[in-house]
Amino acid sequence: MCGIVGVLGNHEVSPQIFDALKRLEYRGYDSAGIATVNRGKLDLRRAVGKLINLSDILVHEPLPGRAGIGHTRWATHGGPSVANAHPHRAGRVAVVHNGIIENFRALREGLGTEGISFSSETDTETIVQLASHYLERGMTPVEAARATLKRLDGAFALAFLFEGEEDMIICARRGSPLCIGHGEGEMYLGSDAIALAEMTDRITYLEEGDWAILSRSGAMIFDAEDSQTNRPVTRINLENAKVDKSGHRHFMAKEMAEQPRVLQAAMGHYAGVGEDNPALPEGLDFSATDRLIMVACGTAYYACQVAKYWFEKYAGLPVELDIASEFRYRDPVLGPANTALFVSQSGETADTLAALRHARPHVAQVVSVINVPTSSIARESAVALPIHAGPEIGVASTKAFTAQLQVLALLALKAGLQRGYLTPDAFAARLSELRAAPGFVAQALDREEEIKRLSELLSQARDVLFLGRGVMYPLALEGALKLKEISYIHAEAYAAGELKHGPIALVDTDLPVIVFAPHDALFEKTASNMQEVLARQGKVILISDAQGLAAAGDVPDRLMMPTVPEIIAPIVYAVPAQLIAYHTALHRGTDVDQPRNLAKSVTVE
Ligand code: M6R
Repeated sequence: MCGIVGVLGNHEVSPQIFDALKRLEYRGYDSAGIATVNRGKLDLRRAVGKLINLSDILVHEPLPGRAGIGHTRWATHGGPSVANAHPHRAGRVAVVHNGIIENFRALREGLGTEGISFSSETDTETIVQLASHYLERGMTPVEAARATLKRLDGAFALAFLFEGEEDMIICARRGSPLCIGHGEGEMYLGSDAIALAEMTDRITYLEEGDWAILSRSGAMIFDAEDSQTNRPVTRINLENAKVDKSGHRHFMAKEMAEQPRVLQAAMGHYAGVGEDNPALPEGLDFSATDRLIMVACGTAYYACQVAKYWFEKYAGLPVELDIASEFRYRDPVLGPANTALFVSQSGETADTLAALRHARPHVAQVVSVINVPTSSIARESAVALPIHAGPEIGVASTKAFTAQLQVLALLALKAGLQRGYLTPDAFAARLSELRAAPGFVAQALDREEEIKRLSELLSQARDVLFLGRGVMYPLALEGALKLKEISYIHAEAYAAGELKHGPIALVDTDLPVIVFAPHDALFEKTASNMQEVLARQGKVILISDAQGLAAAGDVPDRLMMPTVPEIIAPIVYAVPAQLIAYHTALHRGTDVDQPRNLAKSVTVE
């Protein structure tokens, strides 16, 4: 959450910083700001709300200068206001910060006793006040930054800009991502490489605990023990950093539409056509694994929930699942023959990263399924499997979910083969079904017009219930999450069989109940639960295939899905879950790509 940028340029940097912030706006949009040093003077502009508001201010009050830092905020301490917006300034120093300073209260109290007063409610202001205090006591900017960093507890990425210093930005990374960009006589920093894509493809990723002094001629990087160190410069593929809507109305629409291509790409990477026994990355072996522990947050967690069924069914592997924010606070029992698998689109989710670090010393192997190969989670895993979905900008995760499912399904099949649980013939049969997923997803996307009509009905609802059994239960959870996230309609999901244990009390003539039920082995059971709703005048919307719809009888609201092999049903049924949320949100006029209170990358615990 929160995006930070810094530029030491050879021309006015505000426009460059603003452009980079646009690429980071997915990380938070409660407020934004830029600070520059011009002719030695530090100055800043800040605005509440989206970047467009900052742009209006910059038009009327331009911010000259060739050195600057910028920030887009997701509020943690203190609500969205100009006073709480970054950059924060005290005396001769300004700071932008992503993360949380956990000891800020103690620091604030200490500074208060020195007569220092605060102008915001943020934890960040303690950083800038501390640095300013050290400067006042005669320290140089480098000494002040270093002394300040030593006083901070918590997880953060931050950057300092000093009055009188037009060729210096000091930045630090502890727990939150930060990278340095190398230009021609210019230097940059950003929360991710995508932010810097318009400026450079040469990136240095800072390691945990690193801090750096940037000047136009390069970066001096120090590790957590303050020893000067070298970190490699890598070239990123700028094609992968492209962030445009390609003619779609929203990023979410574009990302949903991309799914057939993305799934094809993921499949092609791991199991090209004609490869009957595709190799997984070296070192990835489930044959001696006695238990698989899967950990993630949000949509990625639901992908794990689906994958649990696959690992049990196709690999005979006991699976334990946990939400990352719960995992490390419940003393999980971990063993030397366990494999721990972490799933994350961004690869930067603070809870998932912390869970990974908690598990790593106790298990045989740490594996991750991520979308950003250079992310912290990828870099801290023994084996990282990219899903090859390309940048996902819409806050509601769509293509990353289906690509995660595709890669996890392949992993489960491969584990089954390695463990002798699946015969080579059974493996080949499931693999060829998996290869058919992109085509069926394209067919599901073709149902958009019908979904639009159903969504009109949903947009009037106050609450919506989603039901499913087996792998359709996590799909129901995902459908409910998507709907809540972007339409702000309260939605709940239940395993269909649980309905009678309580939630059926909610059913009345106003409650839409969406049932995911392909005609599989569990169909009859789910259909009975659906009848229980219909018997109480509930408004059922049944999503099934031709056989299921025929068997269900008279259900007025229905959506016909293609008939698909069991293993890919969750991938294909994800599409109506996404489109329902999308069109309901459009009917309600909410902000689809940047829904209120949310941010794409959750880098605070
Ligand atoms: O980047 P991650 O996959 O680790 O993110 C996890 C969740 O924050 C994320 O899936 C969130 O729930 C989405 N906004 C859901 O659409």
